[in-house]
Amino acid sequence: MAVLTRNDIAGRIMVALDYANAEQAEGLLKQLEGIPCYMKVGMQLFYAAGPGFVASLKDRGYKVFLDVKMHDIPNTVKGGAESVTRLGVDVFNVHAAGGKHMMSAAMEGVDKAMAPGAQRPIVIGVTQLTSTSQQVLNAEIGLPGSVEQAVIRYARLALDAGLQGVVASPLEVTQIKAACGDAFVTVTPGIRPAGADVGDQTRVMTPAEAFAQKTDYVVIGRPITGAADPRAAIESIIDSIV
Ligand code: C5P
Repeated sequence: MAVLTRNDIAGRIMVALDYANAEQAEGLLKQLEGIPCYMKVGMQLFYAAGPGFVASLKDRGYKVFLDVKMHDIPNTVKGGAESVTRLGVDVFNVHAAGGKHMMSAAMEGVDKAMAPGAQRPIVIGVTQLTSTSQQVLNAEIGLPGSVEQAVIRYARLALDAGLQGVVASPLEVTQIKAACGDAFVTVTPGIRPAGADVGDQTRVMTPAEAFAQKTDYVVIGRPITGAADPRAAIESIIDSIV
């Protein structure tokens, strides 16, 4: 990481804007003004603040990961992918559990919506949610094997469908890159700076440890958004990686 500048590192940190409305999110944006981090908009904020809020992030120069985890019949996902591509998001995701046809339909939606000269969004697959235990995987969802096996199977399926990467735990990055290649993008939540409150995340790594696994992006929410001084929190995370 030594060759990366502080701004390069900021661009690989996706701040999870897990807020109930645009006004609350604006409070954090004000505190982080000038730091070129990625902004992750999940379903809570997107359902409340809508495409207009995402467009305003793009107008202010932010890169945006729209974390809405599409999962529906292929034709509907294709339409969803078209809409978010037109919105200009940089990354969005679909559930790998929707199958190869559904994921490739998302890619068709992107193709259809691409404006000439525009930057293509990176489409990533959700493998197995990090909240899924072995018991839930086997007894409730009905998939045999370990969570790790399910993650790798979904990652390969996402690659086969033409997706560029997956969301996964930082503990799975090495295996995913071995199965799908180094260029296959990994986006990893479950990140906690040394000494931070783990909260409801169970399998965590520090930002420096996650980048040492060669992850491409880290998703960090509460250690920044819940800090008394969010700007100091992200600056200290960047310091821990430079
Ligand atoms: O606050 P915290 O750092 O735990 O936030 C993690 C973010 O990453 C949240 O927005 C959460 O929805 C998201 N996420 C996750 N685990 C996944 C997929 C997404 O924690 N498997």
